[in-house]
Amino acid sequence: MSYYVTTPIYYVNAAPHLGHAYTTIGADILARHMRQRGEEVFFLTGTDEHGEPVALAAEREGVTPQELADRNAERFKALAPLLHASNDFFIRTSDPEHVRRVQEFLTRVKDNGYVYEGTYDGWYCPRCADFKNENEIGPDNTCLIHEGFPLILEHEDNYFFKLSEFQEPLERLYAERPDFVQPATRYNEALSFIKSGLRDVSLSRANLSWGVTVPWDESHVFYVWFDALLNYYTALGYAKPGEDLTSTFWPANYHLIGKDILKFHTVFWPAMLMAAGEEVPHHVFVHGFLLTPDASGKDVKQSKSLGNVIDPFALIESHGADALRFYCFRDVAFGQDGSVSTTAFEQRYETELANGYGNLASRTVAMVHRYRDGVVPAVAPDPAIVADFEGLRERVEELLDRAEITGALEEVWQRVRRLNQYVEEQAPWKLAKDEAQSAQLDTVLATLAEGVRVITVLLVPYLPTTTEKLLATLHAPDIALECARLGAGTLGAIDPLEPLFPRIQS
Ligand code: MSP
Repeated sequence: MSYYVTTPIYYVNAAPHLGHAYTTIGADILARHMRQRGEEVFFLTGTDEHGEPVALAAEREGVTPQELADRNAERFKALAPLLHASNDFFIRTSDPEHVRRVQEFLTRVKDNGYVYEGTYDGWYCPRCADFKNENEIGPDNTCLIHEGFPLILEHEDNYFFKLSEFQEPLERLYAERPDFVQPATRYNEALSFIKSGLRDVSLSRANLSWGVTVPWDESHVFYVWFDALLNYYTALGYAKPGEDLTSTFWPANYHLIGKDILKFHTVFWPAMLMAAGEEVPHHVFVHGFLLTPDASGKDVKQSKSLGNVIDPFALIESHGADALRFYCFRDVAFGQDGSVSTTAFEQRYETELANGYGNLASRTVAMVHRYRDGVVPAVAPDPAIVADFEGLRERVEELLDRAEITGALEEVWQRVRRLNQYVEEQAPWKLAKDEAQSAQLDTVLATLAEGVRVITVLLVPYLPTTTEKLLATLHAPDIALECARLGAGTLGAIDPLEPLFPRIQS
């Protein structure tokens, strides 16, 4: 089967921060997990380069939008491999191939009768690149998302997309597919937006030149959101030279997005696809924000302008990408808002990675060397632990099928704790002193080694580098998910192990 997962494409008006790394890591976890299941996976990320936010930032910096886009796209592109993101393609909306396909697609929407010429009169936020309805406007005509930022009263001739015609089809879609938007709170939010009545939306801008030219009227560019949303579709057409991947991977299984861009993905996007006669994605998963304190100490969404961003590059440099990947999904439940800090990050590293999982692996390997000359005894694992691991793999699959990345990690982590507790209960160092306990020591060591192996296979998507190292030590490199089951005699001779999460000098 095929599996297609996407991140939002990131605005190139600023350098990447932890909030951006977050969705890329999430999508990568799903992509890696699905590959372990033998699925044919396509994982897409990239940059959103057109529109007002970028044009304004370029103006402030005294460079052309293309120069700014080229410079910052490089930073986002460089972040992906540092995070160990295994994306299959990196799309830039200034790619000529994307531009051409946007023009074709939206011409199709026009030919289908869903575009007309009109005048837009209303409020607009240049930072969101969003036309605001009454209920989206804050005090004194400010932006609710960019708190306090003044909205602009726009009056311009635009081409409009007949969103209002999709009110009923969207309501039907939501009724038929209660898991179209996840979590359920976001489904309800999107549905109530639809039910509150859909108005037609601008499809083009006349007062902006940085965008995809409208082919039937070259004095306009397409409204950046439609150009941007289409990346999920256009990329499949040219990501692999000479091959069109659309029929294999469309519709997407999961679009992962932040809650601030819900309306575009759960309302505009399915309507636009319907207007072109295309299938809508299977699911949109909406996550919350990683919050950090602003100048007054209140936890708010990270943003460059507030100066409260955490730099992912620095954390990767000091603790490695695996630690960052783990932290993002451990401290904050995927789908909810949560506070993050470098102190909490360092604590998790110490207590859970170094002392929890890292120490479990180290002492298991060390004891196999100390008591059994580095060879895992080929005996059946302890039935008590087998029972504790029963159904684990299936549970992880079930949760990740629903993009519940934090929940799946917690399932595995319960077993990390369980095995550490097992070491204390069994005290192999005592068993080793009593010849009569030799068979029991074999069982304990085999159970621990197998348990560590199974946990490690399940953690591959979260900690790709560490798990690769550990599985190589165990001479068990197979990461296919079906290997995540406790067996007898799977492991033989193993190598010694350096600490997986060394102490960091600060
Ligand atoms: N370019 C649009 C998306 C177009 S998708 C067709 C955009 N870009 S963005 O760079 O501003 O944001 C990209 C993603 O990062 C969004 O999903 C946003 O929610 C997410 N995050 C930005 N800051 C964040 C946090 N502090 N925490 C979690 N995610 C947040 O919107």
